[in-house]
Amino acid sequence: MTHILHLDSSPRGDRSLSRALTKQFIHLWKQIHPNATVTYRDLGHYPVSPIDEAWIAAAFSPSTELSPSLEAALMISDELIDELLAADLLIFGIPMYNYSVPANFKAYIDQIVRVGRTFIIGSDGYEGLVHGKRALVITTRGGSYAGSSLDFQEPYLRAVFEFIGITDLTFIHAENLSMGAEERQFAIAAAHQAIQQTIEAWQSSDSLSNLSYW
Ligand SMILES: Cc1cc2nc3c(=O)[nH]c(=O)nc-3n(C[C@H](O)[C@H](O)[C@H](O)COP(=O)(O)O)c2cc1C
Repeated sequence: MTHILHLDSSPRGDRSLSRALTKQFIHLWKQIHPNATVTYRDLGHYPVSPIDEAWIAAAFSPSTELSPSLEAALMISDELIDELLAADLLIFGIPMYNYSVPANFKAYIDQIVRVGRTFIIGSDGYEGLVHGKRALVITTRGGSYAGSSLDFQEPYLRAVFEFIGITDLTFIHAENLSMGAEERQFAIAAAHQAIQQTIEAWQSSDSLSNLSYW
C-alpha cells in the first residue's frame, strides 16, 4: 500500500493550476490503488513559519540537552519531518515565483532539512537520511523556463532533495500559462498527459515491481 504526502504551495485556491494538477494525480492514483492513503499539507493556505534563532540553536544542539523552549522551537519541524518520513510517494505542487519557489515552500525546505533527522555529517561529508521515496514535483509557470539558465526552481529542488537523500525525482512543468488562452490550454492538456504517462511508467517500471509497497 502506498502512503502519499500530497503537498500544495500555491496561495491561490480554485484558480490554482498546480493544485488542480496534484489533485488530478491523486484522483488517478486512487483509481488504480484504492487503498493508498494520503496526508495532505496545504502550505499555500497554512504556511509554516521561517526558521529563527531558537530553531537554529535547537537544531544544532544534542536532542538530550534541549530546554523546553528549544524543544518547542523544533515542534513544527519534527511534525513536518515525521510526515515526510512516513510517506512512500511525495506529490508536490509548486508554482514558479520569481524564477524559483514561493517563500512558503522555501520555509518548508528550511524546516525539513535538519542535521540528525534528514541528513548527517559523516566521515565522508554530508549524507542524506531520507531513503526509499519517490517524488513527483508539478510546477506551474507563466512563461517557459525548463532547461534554461533562468530556471532556478528545478535545479534548486533537485539539489536540496538529493541532499537529504531523495533521488527518485520526476518533474512535470506546466509552462506558458500566461501566454494567452491557446498556449494555456495546450500546457494544461500536456500536463494532464504527462501525469497519466508518469503513472503508467511507474506502473510498468522494473524497479518499482520490486518495491513492496507498490
Ligand atoms: C508573485 C508571482 C511571481 C511569479 N513569478 C513567475 C516567474 O518568475 N516565472 C514564471 O514563469 N511565472 C511566474 N509567475 C506566474 C505563476 O507561476 C503562474 O501564474 C502559476 O500558474 C501560478 O501557480 P498556481 O496556478 O498554482 O497558483 C508568478 C506569479 C506570481 C503571483
